[in-house]
This record gives sequence, structure tokens and C-alpha cells, in this order.
Amino acid sequence: MTPRYRAVKGTRDLLPPESERFAAAETIAREIFSSYGYGETRTPILEATELFARSVGETTDLVHKEMYTFADRKGRSLTMRPENTAGIVRAAIERGLAAGPMPLRLWCHGPQFRYERPQAGRYREFRQIDAELFGVAGPVAEAEILRMLVAFLRALGFRALSVSLNSVGTAESRAAFGQALRKHLKPNAVSFGEDDRRKLAENPLRLFESKDPAVRKALQAAPQTLDFLDDSSRRHHEEVRRLLSAAGIPYRDDPALVRGLDYYTRTVFEVVSGDLGAQDAILGGGRYDNLVELLGGPALPAIGFAIGEDRLLSVAPFSSAVRGWALLLPQEPEDVDEALGLAEDLRRTAPGLTVEVDLLARGFKKGMARANTLFEEAGERSLERERMFAVLLGSREREQGAITVKKLATGEQETFPRSELAERFGAARER
Ligand code: HAM
Repeated sequence: MTPRYRAVKGTRDLLPPESERFAAAETIAREIFSSYGYGETRTPILEATELFARSVGETTDLVHKEMYTFADRKGRSLTMRPENTAGIVRAAIERGLAAGPMPLRLWCHGPQFRYERPQAGRYREFRQIDAELFGVAGPVAEAEILRMLVAFLRALGFRALSVSLNSVGTAESRAAFGQALRKHLKPNAVSFGEDDRRKLAENPLRLFESKDPAVRKALQAAPQTLDFLDDSSRRHHEEVRRLLSAAGIPYRDDPALVRGLDYYTRTVFEVVSGDLGAQDAILGGGRYDNLVELLGGPALPAIGFAIGEDRLLSVAPFSSAVRGWALLLPQEPEDVDEALGLAEDLRRTAPGLTVEVDLLARGFKKGMARANTLFEEAGERSLERERMFAVLLGSREREQGAITVKKLATGEQETFPRSELAERFGAARER
């Protein structure tokens, strides 16, 4: 049947088991980030449009062409957040955290919205895991946040990823760099498209995001941000590099990395994966020492990152924790209630085990067929297969006050008194 309604272009449904992998990654993030003292926040999806225009920057692609912006019924311009940093900063100022004890450590995860052309790894609704650290001007902030990031990536099974690192300096050095870039690119501007010519005039750093071969070629011999750093930013950058090396964090210098948002100062970083296609950035982040003040808060240095969860999970080597699973099959409808009670006992005895009761009591044959399908779906090498059972509750069992447990991996079957279910089942798990 052709579905009458489809998910909106660029959005997708996360369904089990994929949704479970997302939840598992978020749980790992929660465990690791909270062990570093980061508190979980949930800020609204809707924010005033002005917030993103001010922070991310009017002339960025993100604000200029990718936002889901609309007027509400009272004519206020609202935007579905395209990223989470601006919302967190707004909340930290509005709710007084930015004036409270420092450092302030916050993290969040949730959906973000960008009107981009959908392709592999690029969606209009996508998810980010985001962490922000406020109140630390020195390079130890970079050291902590990147240590935490790498701890998270390692917990997901990544071993070979490296951080691309650069510095864009202060607002002044960025401006000087922008001017030099403009001067360098101007002779080639006739071959640029209209949008890139606008960028050249308004915000030349944004040309680094251009896919146009003419722009890319012109950028090859372009000046580099590092040549324009003030002394203090240069020292900061050197110290960041030293601290990362000392922490054993693999990184490589990327002089062309400027990032697509205007709020960055000094350190910027990304992690890309060779296992992704054209959209290869798993995450991006950096320092934004002027943003809190720009949005009306105190002068507060800050740094953070956001991981694109959809991209992360399409390449993450981890698999969700092995839980084990039992399908309880009551043969007749009158056995269902008994099965529900037994299921409770099982869940209590074997924590982590998923216990499903065949509420429709479709009989052993159909029940076993479903159990075997789930077993096949668990995958050849899945450890979970070792912990998959069918538990039969039929007329024979009813007469004898017994239960039959079948281990799906071996086909081994045992019948024993119901009173021993929890105990015997625990033992069966061990084998
Ligand atoms: P961003 O680089 O714009 O940075 O996004 C971070 C990550 O979100 C990207 O590296 C990518 O993995 C993912 N992402 C972005 N757009 C899409 C899309 N259309 N589909 C799928 N994934 C996508 C930020 O958002 C900053 N707020 C990061 C930050 C936090 N900087 C400081 N603190």
C-alpha cells in the first residue's frame, strides 16, 4: 500500500533498533559528561530569530539560507534552532547561570533544523550532542573539553580519529585576516558566483565553505589565519597544542579550518571520518570568547563542541549493550495472565533481560516462528544470541505446574517446576 503521508523531506524516523543505538550513545554521553561535572540542559527548539542572526552571524550560510524561520500568530519571527550553542548561552544569561560560580559546564542533546539539500549524512532535521564550558580563558579549557570529547569517542569504540585544529585569533586578527583574504581573492572574483561575490564583500572567511572549484582554487595559495594571530593568541595556540600532545590526544594542524559560524575566536576544531562520504565532519567546535557579552551577558570566555549524532552513529563501532531477551509464550488465552506474572519474576531475577509476553497467545508454533525470526535478526556474531530464550507455558505445563525453557542458540529445552523458573532461568543464562 502506498502510504498517504510521508516524513517531511530531509527528516527521518528513528525506529528500533536504530533508535536504541541513539539512546545508548546518549546514555554514554550522559555518563561520561556528568563524570566531568557537565550538567544536562534542555533548551527550547524555538528561539527568537534575532538570537541566531546575532550569534551565528547574518552573513553565514546557516542564517542566510538554511534556517526554518516563520512568523507566529502574533507576528514574532521565530526560528527552529539550527544549532544549540546560542540557545544555551541565552539560557545561561537569562537564568543567571552566567553570573554564577565558574566554571560553568553544560551539555545537551536534541534535534536541530537546517534547510540544506538532503544527501547521505545531511538532513534537515538532525541530532546533536553538544557540550559547553564557560568561564575559563586559558588553554586548560581546551584541554578539558577535548579530553572529554576523546573519552566519549573512545567509549564508542573509535580508535583512529584525529582532531583537526586551528586558531582564528581575536576579532581584530580575524578582521585583518579577512582583509588580506579579500585582497588575495579579489582578482579572481569575476569567476565567482553571485553568492560568493557577496561573501567576498561581506564576510570573506565564509568563502572557505564554498564548493565552487574557482573559489577553491583561488583559496589554495590564500593567506592563513595563523599568519595574522596576535601574540597572545599565538601563545594560547601553542599552549593548546602542547597540552593536547601531553594528554595523548591525536590532532593535526589544519590551517584552512575556519568553521562556518561567526562566533569563534582563537581555537577551532573538527573531527572528520574517512568512513563518511562528502559530509565527513562528525563534530565541530571551538572557543567563542565574545559571544556571551554580545548576547547581553557578562564578558565570559567559553568553548564547546557539537557532535552530529546521525553521522556519529553511522560510523561508530560500538553496539548497544548485550541485554538478553526472552519471549514468553502462553499457549491459550487463559495462560496469559499467568505468563504476565512469570514475566515479572523473570525481570526481577535477571535484570537487563527484555521479557516479552505474547499477549495474543497465538500458540507455540507462531510464537516459536517469531522467536526464531528475532534470533536471526540478532545477527551472526551477536553475543545477544547466547541470551535468547523462548519460555513455553501450555496445557502440559499447566497440568504439571511446570514451565519449558528453550535456549534458541542450541535448541536445548528443559521442563521444570514453575516455582524454580527464576532460579533455573538464572542458571540457564550462565551456560
Ligand atoms: P556545526 O559544525 O555547524 O557546529 O555542527 C556540528 C556538527 O553537526 C557537524 O560537524 C555535523 O556532524 C552535524 N551537522 C551539521 N549539519 C548537519 C546536517 N544538516 N545533517 C546532519 N548533521 C549535521 C555547531 O553547530 C556549533 N554549535 C558547535 C559548537 C558548540 N561550537 C561551540 N560549541
